[in-house]
Amino acid sequence: MCGITGYIGTEPAGRIVHQGLKNLEYRGYDSAGIALAGETVSVYKTEGEVDELPVPAQNDVACGIGHTRWSTHGEPTETNAHPHTDCSGDVAVVHNGIIENYEELKAALRDQHIFKSDTDTEVIPHLIENHLADDVSLLTAVQRTTAQLEGSFAIAVTAAGHDGVVVAREDSPLLVGHGENATFIGSDATAFIEHTDQVTYLESGDIARLTREDIEIYNAGEPVTREIETLEWDAEAAGKSGYEHYMLKEIHEQPRALRQAISGRIDELATSVDLDIDLPAEYLRSIEEIQIVACGTSYHAGLYAKELLEAHAGVRVTVHIASEYEFGGDRDPWRTMVVAITQSGETADTLSALRNAKRAGARTLAVTNTLGSTVTRDADDTVFIRAGPEIGVAATKTFVSQVATATLLTVHLGQVRQSITSQTTTELLESLRDLPGAVQQILDREATIKDAAETYADSESFFYIGRQAGYPVALESALKLKEISYDHAEGFAAGELKHGPLALVTPETPVIALLTNASAAEKTLNNVNEVESRGAPVIGVTSDPAATSHVDTTFDIPECGPLEPVVANVALQLFAYYVADAKDRAIDKPRNLAKSVTVE
Ligand code: M6R
Repeated sequence: MCGITGYIGTEPAGRIVHQGLKNLEYRGYDSAGIALAGETVSVYKTEGEVDELPVPAQNDVACGIGHTRWSTHGEPTETNAHPHTDCSGDVAVVHNGIIENYEELKAALRDQHIFKSDTDTEVIPHLIENHLADDVSLLTAVQRTTAQLEGSFAIAVTAAGHDGVVVAREDSPLLVGHGENATFIGSDATAFIEHTDQVTYLESGDIARLTREDIEIYNAGEPVTREIETLEWDAEAAGKSGYEHYMLKEIHEQPRALRQAISGRIDELATSVDLDIDLPAEYLRSIEEIQIVACGTSYHAGLYAKELLEAHAGVRVTVHIASEYEFGGDRDPWRTMVVAITQSGETADTLSALRNAKRAGARTLAVTNTLGSTVTRDADDTVFIRAGPEIGVAATKTFVSQVATATLLTVHLGQVRQSITSQTTTELLESLRDLPGAVQQILDREATIKDAAETYADSESFFYIGRQAGYPVALESALKLKEISYDHAEGFAAGELKHGPLALVTPETPVIALLTNASAAEKTLNNVNEVESRGAPVIGVTSDPAATSHVDTTFDIPECGPLEPVVANVALQLFAYYVADAKDRAIDKPRNLAKSVTVE
C-alpha cells in the first residue's frame, strides 16, 4: 500500500527521502515521487520503480517528502503519482488513504483551480492554496483543509517559503522519528529506521508542525503532547542480512520468532502461561462465543486458533473474513469476545470489523505484531506476537507466531474456564517449546525441498489438502504458492475433494497432502488414494515413515505433538519460495499485492 516518508534536517533531503522510499518498497507500489521544498518546491516523479526516480542530487535543500503510490483512484501513471501540487506549484502533498468527498470538493474547486490528475488527493493542495491566500500559516491552512475532508488519511505537506513540514493523520498511520538535528516522517518506521529508534506515533485527528528540532502537535485545535517511544526493531533486523529475498530471510528467522513469541510466557514446568493481558477471569468465564476477524494469512491463523480454542478452551469460535463481517444475529455483545488478528495492525478491513464489533458493545482483543499500530489503539486489549519486522509481502514468520500466540491464549482461557486438563496443557506447551527446534530441522533440510520444488515448478496448478489443523495449513500453503509464483493453487478440506474439485485433478496437478499429527492423517490417506488413481503426483508432508509409501515425494518433518501442522507449514513455505524462485518471480513484491492493505 502507499507509503509516506519525509525529512527535515541539515543534509540534502533528496538522498535521504529517496532511501526512505527504497525502505518502503516492500509495502507494494506502482509509482513514486519526491518533493523538495526551500524557497521553491521541486517535484520528481516516476511511473514505476523507486530506482527509476532520479535522486535530485543538484538540489541541496534540507526538507523533503516522498511517497510510494499503490493506485486506487486513477491509473498508475506519472501524473497520478504523488506528490500533488496546487496551481502555483508551491504546495506539495503526499497522501495515504482515501478522501471520500473528493468529487464534491473537486466540483467546488474546479472553476478556480486546474486539476492535472485523476486522484482524490489532488483536492488537498488546492484547498490549502485557498487557505494560504488568507495569509495564514501552513499549519492553519492544513487545519482548515483537514476539517473539509471526509475519509481516512495521512498527509504530509510542504510549501515554498514555509519552514518545515505539516503532517496530519485521520485513521491512516503516521509517525515521526526524532534524530539529531533532524526529524523524519514515516507511514511506518521502516521509512527511517536506519536513522533513529526514537518515535512519536501520531493519533487520529493529530496535526503536527515539524521542523528539524521541534514538533508541535494539535488535536481538535488544542496543543497536545504525545510520548516519545523507543522502537524495538533495528535497521539490521529490517535488512536482508545476505539472503536473496526478505521472504527467505524471514522463513529462516522462524525459530527465533517462535522463541520470542513464547519467551517469558510459559512457566518452567509447562503448566501455565502468562500473557500479560488484562482480561478479568470473571469476564473470560462468561464468554459464550469468540468471533475472530482477520484477512488472508491472518484469517488462516484464525482458523487454526479455532481448532485449538474449541478443543481446549470450551468456547464456541467463529472465524470471519473481516471484509464480510458484521456483528449481529442474536449474539449477546457482553458474552462475545471479538479477536482481531492482524500482523500489521493496519489492515482496513480488519479495523473496520473491529470497530463494528465495538459499536455493538463487544469487548475486543487485538493479536498483532506491530507496536503502536492502529489496532492496538482501537482494541480494548492487545497481545503482541513478537515476530519482529516482516518486510516480505508474503507473511511467513508472522503466521507461525500468530498460531503460537493462539496456543498460549488457548491454554490461558482453558485454565481460567477450567476446560483444559493438566495433561493437555503440558502437551500443548511442550509442543510449543519444541516448535523452534522442529522448525530449525526443516530449515536444515531446505535443499531437499528446493529439489522437489524445482521438479514440480513447471506445473501450473497445485492442490493442497488437509483436515483439522491441517486444513488451515493447506489454505495458507496454497495462498503462499499462488501469491509469489502466480501459479494456480487451492487448498481444500481433504474430504471435500470428492464433492467437486476432484474433477480438476489430472496427472498435471500435483496434490500436496498434510499427513501430520493433529490432522487426521489416516483419513486423508483415503483422499490421497483418490487423487493418485486419477494420476496426480502426491507430495506428502509427514512425520510418519509409514505414510511415505503412499506418496510420490515425502517432506519428512520431525514429530512435534499437536502443533506439528505448523512445522509442515514451514516446509511448504520453502516449497512455495523455491517454485517461485525457479520461475524468477519478484518474490518480495508480488504483482498487484501490498504488504499492508490500508483500503477497504
Ligand atoms: O497485516 P494483516 O495480517 O492484517 O494482513 C492481512 C493480509 O493482507 C495478509 O495476511 C496477506 O494475506 C499476506 N501478506 C499474504 O501472505
